[in-house]
Amino acid sequence: VNREEGNSLGALVDHGHRPRNNIPLSEFNGRARITGPCGDTMEFWVQVRDDAVDRVSFITDGCGISHACGSMATCLAQGRPLDEVSGLQPEAIIEALGGVPADHEHCALLSANTLKAACAGYSENVSSRSSNAPSVVRVAAAVVAGRLAPLVAGCDSLALLDVESSTMQVLRRQNEEAPPQEVESLPAWLAGYGVQVLICQEMEEQWKELFGAHGISVVVDAAPDIPEAWIASYLGGSFTSSE
Ligand code: FES
Repeated sequence: VNREEGNSLGALVDHGHRPRNNIPLSEFNGRARITGPCGDTMEFWVQVRDDAVDRVSFITDGCGISHACGSMATCLAQGRPLDEVSGLQPEAIIEALGGVPADHEHCALLSANTLKAACAGYSENVSSRSSNAPSVVRVAAAVVAGRLAPLVAGCDSLALLDVESSTMQVLRRQNEEAPPQEVESLPAWLAGYGVQVLICQEMEEQWKELFGAHGISVVVDAAPDIPEAWIASYLGGSFTSSE
């Protein structure tokens, strides 16, 4: 999809009926999901390479115009420098669509904000990986009923923990629903969150390589403890970001 196609007559109807790039990316390094004041949710994925948006996609449960706005946002972002995409304004989306009804301009704002947040997510991932003070490691833990569990397809929850590597203190925790997909898609999904280490009770041997290919170290045989307790008691001072 190129910008010329996006500028054709009837772009609003066209993009509303045939939204481009309307599928989650299997490989991405920035992602964001925002629910707007209207109650609709939009989600964007970006794959940034050499400071430019190499690939971008979106999904939404919103109206037809939100589909058109998300679609046009991806068209305007594709192949463009990251700082340019981060500053994409809703007016540019509206203009490229040839206008939207006044009471739906917020759909363009939601698209621009979510795309911007996905770009910011990429930048945060990069800076958290390169920063040395303090050295924070993002750990994902396969969790069932609050305790470490085997990593299996469809495992119900993943805890994401930011661990200060010298003190082993858990600085922040968030829980994310695992994507309802086969385990092969998990490494890219976790890499999008900046995860560097995955801990679980067990996983199939061949899956470890998939995570390694995305720069994620795997630690298995974790006791069925709550993740914070396991990190503190088992890993102790031997845990560093290089492992
Ligand atoms: Fe909610 Fe369009 S009405 S995004």
